[in-house]
Amino acid sequence: MKLGVPKETAAGERRVALVPDAIKKLAAKDVTVTVEAGAGTEANISDQAYGEVGASTGAAWSCEAVAKVAPPSAEEIGRLGQGSVLIGFLDPLGSPETTKALAAAGISAFAMEAVPRISRAQSADALSSQATVAGYRAALIAAQELERFFPMLTTAAGTIRPAKVLVLGAGVAGLQAIATAKRLGARVSAFDVRAAVAEQVESLGASFLDLGIGSDAEGEGGYARELTEEEREAQQRALGERTAQFDVVITTALVPGRPAPRLITAATVAAMKPGSVIVDMAGEAGGNCELSEAGQTVVRDGVTIVAPLGLPSTMAEHASQLYARNVSALLDLMVVDGKLELDFEDEVIKGACITHGGEIVHEGAKKAAAA
Ligand code: NAI
Repeated sequence: MKLGVPKETAAGERRVALVPDAIKKLAAKDVTVTVEAGAGTEANISDQAYGEVGASTGAAWSCEAVAKVAPPSAEEIGRLGQGSVLIGFLDPLGSPETTKALAAAGISAFAMEAVPRISRAQSADALSSQATVAGYRAALIAAQELERFFPMLTTAAGTIRPAKVLVLGAGVAGLQAIATAKRLGARVSAFDVRAAVAEQVESLGASFLDLGIGSDAEGEGGYARELTEEEREAQQRALGERTAQFDVVITTALVPGRPAPRLITAATVAAMKPGSVIVDMAGEAGGNCELSEAGQTVVRDGVTIVAPLGLPSTMAEHASQLYARNVSALLDLMVVDGKLELDFEDEVIKGACITHGGEIVHEGAKKAAAA
């Protein structure tokens, strides 16, 4: 099978879909890889490094399968061969235009976001691998912005108390933010509407904050459900009372396919100590903090509020390494004896496929495209 790895063109996208190690493993399965010149440069991988594992440099879009990171532009979709396979983040719920164009072009498109979150597909779970990178980076941004130490310091000039960090949402990104803030020496508390994660929070040495709102909002597939109006108000009120004691708040709360839940109101921000820092990871979905501006850093009432976008790209090297492993795991299920064989009986293949044979075949993508 011939697989192409194009250079990413989306603004700010520095990752690459496959790294040399992954290509070496694919070669053992008779997959020949063509990498577009310069595709790995921003992730610190030279064309020569790809050459050393047997990949050629050349036209990546004309291969029978193409592996990408960010959704393709309309022009890029036009460069894909009829009936070819595309693998990448395709934003099936947020970018119906891309889905429609892929279907119209007769592409068999596999969205990394749609890979079922089941144990068998764990190694293909790119949302998790990239959220891990983002959660780590968010904690570092908080430490960088805070004009106070994270760790406790005992010095001849006196003792500095450790920073208090609150992480809201303890999914993949949140747990990594907790672990990173802990490693930097902060005292970390966390809250999630799913009561089941309390144990994971505590196993990282953080404390689970009891907001006293009493309900467990675990929904379908282990994800959170959207809170009722009443629950939402109770949470905002409880956070309003508790947040002022923290130096840093990192928010990662998300309900799939919904706007980000509003956790931190302007009044809560106003009650925080000047110099405190909020890092809102949900900026793209509208923000967990009322005052966040996606992609911007703003200061309100002396509180710095950062809503960074594209965090995985700020660590393009390791983010690409992890992503390449995810893509390879999916490809493993598609390649038999060096040939592309799409087995739609396989729930991972079926679940990840959003367009095939000229049709949109994924329920969520279909709904988004019809809206
Ligand atoms: P996830 O689904 O694993 O975790 C989200 C967590 O939020 C879940 O544990 C859920 O129970 C919790 N949650 C939902 N509603 C809540 C509420 N009202 N209060 C408290 N917790 C609540 O998601 P993941 O992968 O950890 O991603 C987290 C966020 O980070 C998402 O918004 C995602 O879009 C964002 N993200 C941002 C990046 C960036 O560059 N800024 C990069 C990667 C992810």
